[in-house]
Amino acid sequence: MTTPACVWITGASSGLGRAVALRYAGAGAMVAASARSAEAMATLAAAPAAAGRIHAFPVDVTDRVAMVDTVARIEAALGPIELAILNAGTHEPVDAQHFDAAVFDRLFAVNLTGTVNGLHAILPRLIARRTGQVALVASVAGYGGLPTAAAYGATKAAMINLAEALKFDLDPLGVRLSLVNPGFVRTPLTDQNPFPMPALMEVDDAARALVRGLARGGFEVTFPRRFTYVVKLLRLLPYRLYFPLVARLTGK
Ligand SMILES: NC(=O)c1ccc[n+]([C@@H]2O[C@H](COP(=O)([O-])OP(=O)(O)OC[C@H]3O[C@@H](n4cnc5c(N)ncnc54)[C@H](OP(=O)(O)O)[C@@H]3O)[C@@H](O)[C@H]2O)c1
Repeated sequence: MTTPACVWITGASSGLGRAVALRYAGAGAMVAASARSAEAMATLAAAPAAAGRIHAFPVDVTDRVAMVDTVARIEAALGPIELAILNAGTHEPVDAQHFDAAVFDRLFAVNLTGTVNGLHAILPRLIARRTGQVALVASVAGYGGLPTAAAYGATKAAMINLAEALKFDLDPLGVRLSLVNPGFVRTPLTDQNPFPMPALMEVDDAARALVRGLARGGFEVTFPRRFTYVVKLLRLLPYRLYFPLVARLTGK
């Protein structure tokens, strides 16, 4: 497995992004870690496991101008980004009885527009160099509608569609686009879930699967497959079977 020389990861202050940053640093890559929390990233950069190879570049992914500036600063400091992992994301459940459009605004801004801002910042550079890889971290929640996930799932479904569409355009330009669809991973994001999470993965196992999957070079990286393939199969069922089955599986 070849390790990219320079990796940019958004949402690197916590959870999956943090674990992935440590894994790439451990493998010898220079890692640019981005998130809003400068303090959490300074702690990450100073961790012994970071081996002096993680550098904090705090940014809010919803700020398009700041994202462009951040990428310029990363490349000036660490050299050309070979792999960008657009992972920053957030989750809030939707309660249909107290429908609140502001929840949708917040999730769309971070998960979807934040990812688009990352693409806006990095793609012109990769295309100009005719090389490099971009990974979008979506979710199996984007495969099909799930209870309470109307906002989160909508952002992830949009990301999946966006990635599929962009791949056609980026392939001939020499830029590899990858789509990461995790199942449940134990992180601060899922710690808030009040329901039992099937096939819940520990974050280090998930990070290992993500890094391996990106190196393998296929379009979709998904884990744990014994769970995510089932969710994908559910999506292929007719709705008259999909709804009762998902309702039963989720106790809805
Ligand atoms: N955990 C799971 O089971 C699971 C499953 C499928 C997909 N995912 C996806 O995996 C990704 C990482 O999730 P996680 O579980 O690791 O969650 P997490 O521990 O809550 O981490 C989320 C990261 O995103 C950053 N972030 C949030 N808003 C941001 C903003 N406006 N600008 C910049 N960074 C921002 C957070 O840092 P700051 O707060 O410091 O900004 C944090 O570093 C997300 O896209 C999530 O949807 C997770």
